[in-house]
Amino acid sequence: MVTQTVKCPTCKTTMTISGEPGEKIQLACPECHQKGIYRIPGEKISETLSSQPATIEVSGLTKTYNHVPVVNNVSFRVSKGEIFGFLGPNGAGKTTTIKAMLDLIHADAGAITIKGIDVRTQGKEAKKYVGYMPEKVAFYDNLTALQNLCFYAEIKHASKEECIGLIDEFGLGETGKKRVGKFSKGMVQRLGMARAILGNPPILILDEPSGGLDPRGVVLIRDKILDMKKKGTTIFVSSHILGEIQEICDRVGIINKGVLVAQDSVEGLSKKLNLKPQMTITVDKMSSSIEDAIKKLPGVERVQSKGNTLDIICDGAMKAKVILAITDAGGNIQNLQTKEPSLEEVFMRYTEA
Ligand SMILES: Nc1ncnc2c1ncn2[C@@H]1O[C@H](COP(=O)(O)OP(=O)(O)OP(=O)(O)O)[C@@H](O)[C@H]1O
Ligand SMILES: [Mg+2]
Repeated sequence: MVTQTVKCPTCKTTMTISGEPGEKIQLACPECHQKGIYRIPGEKISETLSSQPATIEVSGLTKTYNHVPVVNNVSFRVSKGEIFGFLGPNGAGKTTTIKAMLDLIHADAGAITIKGIDVRTQGKEAKKYVGYMPEKVAFYDNLTALQNLCFYAEIKHASKEECIGLIDEFGLGETGKKRVGKFSKGMVQRLGMARAILGNPPILILDEPSGGLDPRGVVLIRDKILDMKKKGTTIFVSSHILGEIQEICDRVGIINKGVLVAQDSVEGLSKKLNLKPQMTITVDKMSSSIEDAIKKLPGVERVQSKGNTLDIICDGAMKAKVILAITDAGGNIQNLQTKEPSLEEVFMRYTEA
């Protein structure tokens, strides 16, 4: 059950309503009696769950601070070997969700299992399977990178050789002997990722792993995440770098003001929002008959010409027909580019105020 406050569009009176994600609720304003229908943000869980058995399962998670739900009835499943991206604006509830998933904070309601183990009652057992990179990575400042990793290696039953290898892989070879207190933010972040994957855990939970990293560091972490996926690791990653999530994630969940407003593949979300690809086509000689031929096609939303270049927004399935229509109308195509709907557009649409 999700609880929301909504404002009457006429007299601005605030009303509190409750319902399931996706449910449409009939409202009548107690002040001006204006009637209307409000749809609770989010989707029915059964429609969006993947069919594979869940490695991570969160159901009805709610966390309240000062009587305000900052995570509000959030449910999702992550299947074995899947990369699940968790997106949302600042303050949306990503870190709170992650902390609850690891039992680092006590949730007010909901069930969380990791590999079928109840995190709230058997947290220690469940966490054995997890490599975690927190939002604020912290180490012992007076120890070197290697000493720090070796400390965690003992807990994770990993060897010193693995620690040395990871320090090298994460570009910290030169600085492995330096005390972590003297590390830059990006270096600490790299070491944080090395610690998360130490001991090859079957599940990775990463809270903004690329925060503060230079472009080389971002690529390094992205490639490492993909490497881990190849080994069959299940990965839950929160991020603000939308392009990165789009590139690596099998599915994404979008959280806004504590409510999980969508979860699907990027492609699936684009389809639901009816986001269409954009084609930019340059012909050797522009004519009105070319433009007219494209405009007549079903599924073409917009055609704009500038010089010899056409910008066309159309259904994905119509791309080949657009090209044919241009050549049939006598156009000789010199250049063609297609821009698919981006996660940024999906994100902006789902997190609109
Ligand atoms: N210990 C706390 N006490 C009170 N409020 C808190 C506490 N921790 C988090 N919050 C509030 O919960 C909300 C969600 O915070 P959270 O850190 O989960 O957001 P986030 O999505 O991770 O944001 P960001 O992208 O900035 O990291 C925010 O409004 C935050 O102020
Ligand atoms: Mg956060």
